[in-house]
Amino acid sequence: MSKHILLTGGAGFIGSHTYVALIEAGYSVTILDNFENAHSDVADRLERITGAPVSVIKADVRDAAAMKSVLNAGFDAVVHFAALKSVPDGETDPASYYRSNCAGLMNTVEAMRQADVRRIVFSSSAAVYGSADAMPISEATAVAPENTYARTKAFGEEYLQAIAHAHPDFRIGLLRYFNPVGAHSSGLIGEDPSQPPGNLVPVIARVATGDMPSLKIFGDDYSTPDGTGIRDYIHVEDLARGHVLSLNALFERDESHLVNLGTGRGYSVLEVIATYKTVSNRDIPFEIAPRRVGDPAISYADVTRARELLGFEAQHDLRSMCASNWAFAAQSKALS
Ligand SMILES: NC(=O)c1ccc[n+]([C@@H]2O[C@H](COP(=O)([O-])OP(=O)(O)OC[C@H]3O[C@@H](n4cnc5c(N)ncnc54)[C@H](O)[C@@H]3O)[C@@H](O)[C@H]2O)c1
Repeated sequence: MSKHILLTGGAGFIGSHTYVALIEAGYSVTILDNFENAHSDVADRLERITGAPVSVIKADVRDAAAMKSVLNAGFDAVVHFAALKSVPDGETDPASYYRSNCAGLMNTVEAMRQADVRRIVFSSSAAVYGSADAMPISEATAVAPENTYARTKAFGEEYLQAIAHAHPDFRIGLLRYFNPVGAHSSGLIGEDPSQPPGNLVPVIARVATGDMPSLKIFGDDYSTPDGTGIRDYIHVEDLARGHVLSLNALFERDESHLVNLGTGRGYSVLEVIATYKTVSNRDIPFEIAPRRVGDPAISYADVTRARELLGFEAQHDLRSMCASNWAFAAQSKALS
């Protein structure tokens, strides 16, 4: 019988792509989401992609009793995406970030323990590294979070490591994502935040569709070849596959893992804009604004460990990330 996986936050951007990848890999999957940053029609879209009914539970990870009752239904593992993810919002409303990201994880793990579920994959972030100097960033790089959001992710890792240490039958997969972008090849699901986007590619998409007049590049005087910041972007379909490999490893081996998921190469802001311009055939006006505090000049992952432990290798390049994002954005705009 196929293993049954609970995806908290599974209706969101990365969760919905991971749902498809897990179904394709033969897992049976249930989504749990409170839909505060997801659209209500995501289940219909996932059903169109997978050709099968989608099991969705509307619940909140902050509700300990609800999590206990859900986990009692019998799962083999949890993938925990549910979280708030805006860096600026975390600074103005830290209480909400600690409640959702920390208390929500603790409720989930407590419910898992009571229901005897012993495998969890956790959405962590390259944000836990802060502004690391030495590149590439390996998993041995010091954890030095510089904002509330990043601190809640560092807490999640530390908490799960303590649980795994105290309960040796617990297996944890800690995945530090670099910058997920792109959309599913069907064009049916993608990054469609209900809040104004903070990440580069969704902002570029809004400029390309005409929903925003221009975008701001924060700093063009970094010591990089074109002066703009360099980041490691990873296609969300590659990232989704990383979760399948992580779960496989937790089921097949008696050990936990902590890995970076990126491509191992960086692209500058100007390179991303130029690529998006080519694939969309739209003008992308921009203006140069001052650097933002805490933004490093360069950040890209050392992906050796993900390759060695999980057999993970990113397959999509920047053009594919931008083209799939544009296909989704253009289709969503046409339907709106
Ligand atoms: N997108 C990124 O750039 C990025 C980078 C690194 C890590 N992450 C992490 O990956 C995970 C998924 O991110 P995403 O980009 O898909 O974000 P997302 O906002 O699209 O998905 C998160 C989902 O969780 C749900 N959710 C939020 N609070 C909840 C709660 N209390 N109870 C139940 N559901 C709740 C939201 O409705 C949403 O569907 C998050 O943990 C995020 O911090 C994201």
